Amino acid sequence: MSGITARSLHKSYGTIPAVDGIDLDVRSGHIFGFLGPNGAGKSTTIKILTTLIPPTSGTIEVLGIDAIKHPLEVRKRIGVVLQQPSYEPNLSVEKSLEKYGMMWDIDRKTRKERSEELIDVFDLNEIRKRKNEDLSIGQRRRVQVAREFMHEMDLLFLDEPTVGLDPTARRNLLDYLKNKVKTGLTIFYTTHVLTEAEYLCDEIAVINKGKILAVDSPNNLKNTFGQEKTITIHLSERHDNLSELLSGITDCIIDFNTGTNITIQSSKSEVVLSQILQILIENNISVEDLSAIPTTLEDIFLKMVKDSNAPNN
Ligand SMILES: Nc1ncnc2c1ncn2[C@@H]1O[C@H](COP(=O)(O)OP(=O)(O)O)[C@@H](O)[C@H]1O
Ligand SMILES: [Mg+2]
Repeated sequence: MSGITARSLHKSYGTIPAVDGIDLDVRSGHIFGFLGPNGAGKSTTIKILTTLIPPTSGTIEVLGIDAIKHPLEVRKRIGVVLQQPSYEPNLSVEKSLEKYGMMWDIDRKTRKERSEELIDVFDLNEIRKRKNEDLSIGQRRRVQVAREFMHEMDLLFLDEPTVGLDPTARRNLLDYLKNKVKTGLTIFYTTHVLTEAEYLCDEIAVINKGKILAVDSPNNLKNTFGQEKTITIHLSERHDNLSELLSGITDCIIDFNTGTNITIQSSKSEVVLSQILQILIENNISVEDLSAIPTTLEDIFLKMVKDSNAPNN
């Protein structure tokens, strides 16, 4: 079964292109991460894919259904947790779950079982009798996400679900989602937190200003964009002729800093490092400390977003 196929999605608000020509292929049974800074177009994309707003142009197939022609068919089979809070102030936590189950026509016995399970998984037991309006933002968010699991679905859309959650609640949610995917669920997950996307997702699309900058697995993104390493060398003492000694080395950017400490950036770090060490040894310059740090996914993400924000783009 297919997950999501979208082609040339556009959505403009007036003259602002919030979504500017997006293609998506989300494989069923996977977690697809939609990663981008504030205002990138993540929520707009989710609203279009979940049939809440129509695109200005483009085609969308969700679970094999044409989502523009048959939005109601799509809605029956998906779950959606939007970014904005949604709760009934006077309802208790357990009543919220119960009511959601009823809305989805879940039988009484299943409702009971599910809500108990969710109260346990989402750590809501202590607050189960408390009204939504008396909850903290993070607690409300947990209820908002938990109640979506009262019904069955093939595809779940989550728009920044961990905002306001403490680290434990965050990790619990991510692990719960991972387990759900093992039972066949497909998840479309937006976040601006890179470590989350890396931990959770099989595939990540990086979006900025309504355009997708890259789509790949976290590992491939690292391999494609992250060959570069930063090498730092600390010398035992100051050497003023370093820049002269190392001037013949290519394929890198060397920063001589204070004269006792050099940083080198290169995508051929092994070659460059061995050349530098050889020169240092030949000149009797002793090294006190040395490190080579691979570029992180975070560096890649920030660089991609920065490049796409550059004026000539
Ligand atoms: N209803 C709206 N009316 C006008 N502009 C909007 C509306 N919704 C979103 N936008 C604009 O569209 C762009 C994308 O917003 P959004 O999809 O919410 O981004 P994200 O979820 O990635 O933060 C932003 O520039 C935002 O200001
Ligand atoms: Mg958003």
